[in-house]
Amino acid sequence: MKKILITRRLLKSNEERASKIWNVKLNATDEVYSQGELIKLSKNCDGILTSIVDKIDKKLIESLPASVKIISNFAVGFGNIDLDAAKNRNIVVTNTPDVLTDATAEIAMLLILGAARRANEGIQISKTQTWQWSADFLIGKQLSGSRLGILGMGRIGRAVAKRAKSFGMEIHYHNRSRLNKELESGATYHDNIKDLFSVSDFLSINCPATEKTKNIINKDSLKFFPNGAIITNSARGDMIEDNAMVEALKIKKIYALGLDVYKGEPKISSGYLNHPKVFVLPHLGSATKKTRTDMADLAINNIEEFFKTGTCVNKVN
Ligand code: GLV
Repeated sequence: MKKILITRRLLKSNEERASKIWNVKLNATDEVYSQGELIKLSKNCDGILTSIVDKIDKKLIESLPASVKIISNFAVGFGNIDLDAAKNRNIVVTNTPDVLTDATAEIAMLLILGAARRANEGIQISKTQTWQWSADFLIGKQLSGSRLGILGMGRIGRAVAKRAKSFGMEIHYHNRSRLNKELESGATYHDNIKDLFSVSDFLSINCPATEKTKNIINKDSLKFFPNGAIITNSARGDMIEDNAMVEALKIKKIYALGLDVYKGEPKISSGYLNHPKVFVLPHLGSATKKTRTDMADLAINNIEEFFKTGTCVNKVN
C-alpha cells in the first residue's frame, strides 16, 4: 500500500476516502508544517498532497527522500512549488484545475461588487447604528455600462467575463494569446496591457503568477488606467506592486480595490487595511464545500492516476 503524506487537514469525507486508498499520514492539528517537519514526515512516503501554504522550494525538494514520486497540490495555482527542482528529481507535480473555476469567479464578482459599491465602508457604518439614508450617502460606482478589463482569460477569467456580462459590463481582455471567437464570446482583445488598462474602468486580475506577471500592476502601468478605475485581484498577490497601489489610491487615480490575495499572506499591507475603499477578503476564492470537496477529490485522483499510469493529465511540470 502506498504511503501518502497529506500536509493539511482536508474535509472529513476526503480524508476518509484517502485513508481507504492509502496508508495516509494526516495532520491532526492542521498547523502548517515547517520545512524540517515536511522532510521528516515524508520519510518512506510515495507522495505528498500539499496545500498552497506549503513552501516546496528547491532546498526542500532536494532534501525529500527518494521514495517521493509525486507532489499533488491542492490548488490550481502552484507558485508554492519549484517545478524545475521537482522535475530534476523526477517528481511529478499536479494541480486541481476546473473544479474551482465557478467558486473563484463568484469571489471575483464579490470583489468587483464590494469595491464598487463601497461594502467595506457600508459594513463599518451600519455597525455604528447612527447612519441616516440620504440621496448622496455612500454613493459608489455602477457595474452596468462600465468596461471590465480581464487580465488573464483562462478558465477563471472567462467565467468572470460570463458573469460580468450579465451585470451589463462590456468585456475587454489581455491574454498571452488571443482566444478563438467562441471562447472570446464577444470580448475585445488587446494584445498589450497598456491598451487593456487604458479602457478598464474595472480590472479583474485572473492570470497566473509567473516571472512575467510579477508586479505587472506597478507605478508605471497604473498610469495607463482611466482616473478612478477599480482593480480587483482573485488570483495571486504577486501581480501587484503594493506601495505603488497604495499611492495610486491616495491620489485617487484608483477609486477602490477588491482583494482576496496578497503578497506574503496572511499579512496584508497596512496601506490597504487603513483605506476605506479597499474591500478585503482572506483568500476565499475556492472556499465552498462543493469546491473544496471536489478539489481534494481531484488531488487524490491525480495521485491515483499517477501510480496507475505513470503520468497524470493534471501534471504541471
Ligand atoms: C487557490 O488559490 C488555488 O490556486 O487553488
